[in-house]
Amino acid sequence: MTRTIICVIGTRPEAIKMAPVILTLKKNTAYRTLVLATGQHSDMLDQALSFFDIHADENLHIMKARQTLDHITSRVLVGTGEIYDKEKPDLVLVHGDTTTTLGASMSAFYRKIPVGHVEAGLRSGNLEQPFPEEANRVITDRLATLFFAPTDRAKHNLLSENVAEERIFVTGNTVIDALAWTLRQNRGHAPQKEYSLPEDAPLILMTAHRRESWGEPLKEICKAIKHLLTELPHVYFLIPLHKNPAVRDVIRSCLGKSERVIFTDPLNYPDFVQAMNRSYLILSDSGGVQEEASFLKKPVLIMRNLSERPEAIDEGTGILVGTDKEKIIFETLRLFSNKREYDNLVAGSKSPFGDGTAAEKIEKHIFNFFNPWNIV
Ligand code: UD1
Ligand code: UDP
Repeated sequence: MTRTIICVIGTRPEAIKMAPVILTLKKNTAYRTLVLATGQHSDMLDQALSFFDIHADENLHIMKARQTLDHITSRVLVGTGEIYDKEKPDLVLVHGDTTTTLGASMSAFYRKIPVGHVEAGLRSGNLEQPFPEEANRVITDRLATLFFAPTDRAKHNLLSENVAEERIFVTGNTVIDALAWTLRQNRGHAPQKEYSLPEDAPLILMTAHRRESWGEPLKEICKAIKHLLTELPHVYFLIPLHKNPAVRDVIRSCLGKSERVIFTDPLNYPDFVQAMNRSYLILSDSGGVQEEASFLKKPVLIMRNLSERPEAIDEGTGILVGTDKEKIIFETLRLFSNKREYDNLVAGSKSPFGDGTAAEKIEKHIFNFFNPWNIV
């Protein structure tokens, strides 16, 4: 009996992190695997999907400039429900913590369709940080049937919320599968070839986009960068700007022009992987970048007050600095001034987010879910 699985994705990180799962499921003819894009992101989603050669079977195209959470939630809820009614899936797979994840899980729940949550169980413990992602995760995990937890700690979080242990599978994070595959492909462009970046110049890669950083916190980050440009006159910054005008316009106008600040549009995934690899240090508020950086052994200053990925902090490669200008400056200068400390930090760290086999494991657990009598 062929089972229909709908994989729902809406934003860039969902595309990258679900790509290994989609490609693995598509190889198995026991499933009819459909990709439903909500289009919460437009070009950024298409850019990520095209690198993995994945084509959405349906795209709801919901994105509007400066969209509100109400807009995304309501359009995803109604739009995904209509597709479920048409395609009658046996399982819906959602990823992570976006508003697409929340809406797609709710409409599946309303139809009593089981939901598999990839990257389940991450918790910061504060519904306002990250906002609204912590709430999206908590609610999705109330509605899900299968829980693919990236780490033991994520499993523990789910157990403490009374999720049945037999429904939780620790798989590692699928982003490591995507990253390892991309590294093997070796297709990205090195930043020094693309931009006027001297071959031996130390590079800091910076990304920022979180809703709770819009406004003043973003300005604080920019002030820190300006200060660092003076303190570290040999260092370059590479800043691939998120498409969100609430982010890109502020960063551009705050930082102004400097020959050592390279602004780009969002980089396609292999180029971004090359940029991470080329960096001495990463400043970021991204969830995915923290996971990737720990696999690549690159220190990340995490520009958030709380983290739902404490594993990277325990390993030492993740350093929580918030959006506090002084902390960003202090930690950056510390890592540049003490090379031995930097080398020890990097050499001693392990990747806590998996070994690149998460998608295979998820596929196996889905098979067992559909064929419970086969489990040995
Ligand atoms: C969303 C997710 C966030 C995730 C991030 C990944 C929610 C509430 N937020 O945040 O969890 O970390 O994606 O990047 O689910 N835009 C474009 N083109 C694009 C994408 C975005 O122009 O391809 C602009 C639009 O003006 C859009 C705005 O960015 O309205 C914000 O997009 P939205 O998805 O609402 O929020 P993100 O900050 O991207
Ligand atoms: N990324 C990318 N190009 C960029 C910036 C990021 O491909 O210019 C990738 C990055 O490697 C990671 C993902 O996008 O896999 C993270 O997305 P984002 O920071 O937008 O979202 P988050 O992970 O915070 O939800």
